[in-house]
Amino acid sequence: MMQVFIQFGATGDLAEKKLLPAYSELLRKGYNFHVIALGRRFSTVEAYLKHMGITEDNPLTSRISFVQYSMEEAASKIELIRVLQETISGMCDVEFIYYIALQPSLYESAAYDIRDIHESLEGCRLTKKIIVEKPFGFDAESAQKYNSILLSVCTDEEMYRIDHYLGKEFMQNLLVMRFSNDIIKGIWNKHYIDHIQIIFDESFGVDQRLGFYEQIGVVRDTIQNHILQIVTHLTMAEPVEFTPEDIAHEKVKVLRSIKPISTFHLARYASLKDASGNSVNTPTYGAFTCAVDTFDFSGIPIYIRTGKMQKEALSMIYIAFKHFSGTADKKQVPPENAMIFTLHPEMTMDIQLNMKEPRSTWDPRSVRFTFDHFKTFQVNTPEAYQQIIEKILLSDKSLFPSMREILEAWRIVTPMLEADKPLEEYPDRSLPACAVSIIEKDGRHWYA
Ligand code: BG6
Repeated sequence: MMQVFIQFGATGDLAEKKLLPAYSELLRKGYNFHVIALGRRFSTVEAYLKHMGITEDNPLTSRISFVQYSMEEAASKIELIRVLQETISGMCDVEFIYYIALQPSLYESAAYDIRDIHESLEGCRLTKKIIVEKPFGFDAESAQKYNSILLSVCTDEEMYRIDHYLGKEFMQNLLVMRFSNDIIKGIWNKHYIDHIQIIFDESFGVDQRLGFYEQIGVVRDTIQNHILQIVTHLTMAEPVEFTPEDIAHEKVKVLRSIKPISTFHLARYASLKDASGNSVNTPTYGAFTCAVDTFDFSGIPIYIRTGKMQKEALSMIYIAFKHFSGTADKKQVPPENAMIFTLHPEMTMDIQLNMKEPRSTWDPRSVRFTFDHFKTFQVNTPEAYQQIIEKILLSDKSLFPSMREILEAWRIVTPMLEADKPLEEYPDRSLPACAVSIIEKDGRHWYA
């Protein structure tokens, strides 16, 4: 079967940084598909490829066409249908994969364009998939609305809602680590865990995505999706099997147990004001606490901070364990035991235990035992988008959030979307003061 991607938003940042490299890698791996890139900015495929940094030695050059496309112009729809018809001429089994990498406000027009285009095509056997980027909507209400519109064009089975974090090796590994190690299962609950920290700091700003950020902000950009998916991976119960349905079932149970976030702070980095002529008033940093109210996790505080323009890029999860007993040396409380998952700058997992300080008399010192993914497996794992697109080609829905998860996640972040407190302004490359106070008020400190 021939597969053809129709890429809406092909001139955007996501296409340039993630999608085209993923398509290129998958072609190198032997997959057989075409890409029809849609955008307003270029008139030829050569100009488009040059701008996107795709050189002649890339297999994508012989598999891609560019159609100058504007949703307001009927003529570009006609031209797209012509190009698609030409691409599939002589083939009798074709799957069209319509990939919507656009602002949520454009989903509706895109959905109707897809319906018209698909209905106009002729071939022996035509099937389709529709791929929708995150954030899926602006809030719960618009997500419902866009979902109904999309479902008037395709079935739920044909729709793939993207959260590329599910394509990260680190996320999948969390589940394997939790559910394939009985000693971990034994301590992964409120009896042993004191608190959890999730830190996702990025060193860059919104850069060329100013227009996108103006409407989106950090809550819609990463908290409603990536961050809450991390929370589900940390706290869901073991699925009966690793099937898409069983995993989604367990994740929904976690999300349903989380109350709308009430303790949170939002901030915006200082230089954004000048860069945007003061037009971007959406938050670029969020810090909040969240509680998973299931039997195993109720009462464990989860502290989360994430955002842009920080001194260092750092993505990590810190699981702090409780102290129960005293030590043989009653004068000292040993440092806490912990597990530390680092995704960036390197992919590692550490267990923090106490060992004897050399040359001391029974003094414990915190020591980290490290699993380094690259050193152990000596493989570069594929980029998240490569894994995600490969799953789409294979019709495997295991790495895609279900609509129920998306709606629950919108419910959870609603107070953050509706907040009308002024945003704290933080100096570029520094942690907002509110992110520090949110954990310190409980007598705890960020691990990093
Ligand atoms: C994207 C957000 O979904 O995820 C970006 O739109 C963010 O703002 C990015 O930078 C982070 O993803 P990754 O894979 O670089 O950790």
